[in-house]
Amino acid sequence: MRVLVTGGAGYIGSHFVRLLADEQIESVVLDNLSAGHRDAVPPNVPLVCADVGDRGAVRALLGEYQPTAVVHFAGLIQVGESVRAPDLYYGVNLVQTLAMLEELTRGGVQLMVMSSTAAVYGVPQTVPIPEDHPRNPINAYGATKLAVERALQDWERAYGLRHAALRYFNAAGAHPSGTLAERHDPETHLIPLAIDAAIGRRGALTIFGEDWPTEDGTCVRDYIHVQDLATAHLQALRRLEQGAPSMTLNLGTGRGISVREIVDSVQRVSGRQVPVQQGTRRQGDPPRLVACASLAAEALGWKPQRSEVDQMIEDALRSRLARE
Ligand SMILES: NC(=O)c1ccc[n+]([C@@H]2O[C@H](COP(=O)([O-])OP(=O)(O)OC[C@H]3O[C@@H](n4cnc5c(N)ncnc54)[C@H](O)[C@@H]3O)[C@@H](O)[C@H]2O)c1
Repeated sequence: MRVLVTGGAGYIGSHFVRLLADEQIESVVLDNLSAGHRDAVPPNVPLVCADVGDRGAVRALLGEYQPTAVVHFAGLIQVGESVRAPDLYYGVNLVQTLAMLEELTRGGVQLMVMSSTAAVYGVPQTVPIPEDHPRNPINAYGATKLAVERALQDWERAYGLRHAALRYFNAAGAHPSGTLAERHDPETHLIPLAIDAAIGRRGALTIFGEDWPTEDGTCVRDYIHVQDLATAHLQALRRLEQGAPSMTLNLGTGRGISVREIVDSVQRVSGRQVPVQQGTRRQGDPPRLVACASLAAEALGWKPQRSEVDQMIEDALRSRLARE
């Protein structure tokens, strides 16, 4: 197996590339470095710096490295920005992905794993959320991911491209070595924001609503360690390689953690206070988003190993401090 990893210089992609290297599986990264970091890609892994929609670059890469599978992490990831600039999100996440798909088909690549998201469900009608829950995305980000999922189904029927669409809930944590980290700019994710507030690298953490219908009034999410995500991708690739049919799977733990619980954990693990300020509810924020996680366990034989909350925070804090 030789794997093309798009977005391999980004947060989740770089952890996956590291896992492939640990497993002695060859990879090549395609990333335009709009949000990724060159130093997150191991020096012995080729990095092609181009857009996934750059057909010439994709064609040249396929010719030179002859990958047998693609894991597609590249894309734009900010929900709020996608509402303000849907053209950007459709352009990158959908149009560029379709251009790449055409080149992959032409180049004879038969297997693909893609980063999808819990945002395809929109406001959930039932929690935990099973994969067959209605898909009603409420922002352009979720809509573009759902559109790619549907395109992959059509591609499979027409061209035989088998795929795994993996719907992550909230990725968290970092490589246990501290050498890879979540480095988004701007950072919108709760855990790195809470850690930075604790270590005095930014001001108080805003909690968006403490009057939600949840146990402690704050929003509840399903956090999954980035290493566990990486492992699930590898297991999905291996299943596809063995001939498994295409699959659509939630990747989460099935356990909800509230914003308050995250703050408590950051305080426990760091030994510092997290200064917080009360904000108002954000429009479109569901109070509770938790995966029904049994299908991935069944289909992949996958079980999260590092997704206990204190473990995720400990790993995230270590990698944050390593960047000081
Ligand atoms: N982080 C999460 O909690 C989460 C949850 C659900 C789904 N996802 C999905 O997982 C994937 C990876 O997320 P992440 O958190 O690692 O984000 P990230 O921003 O760290 O990584 C995305 C990478 O894609 C690259 N990229 C963006 N547009 C590109 C383009 N047109 N051509 C080539 N490269 C491009 C960026 O430079 C970056 O390295 C995304 O598709 C995201 O939608 C993430």
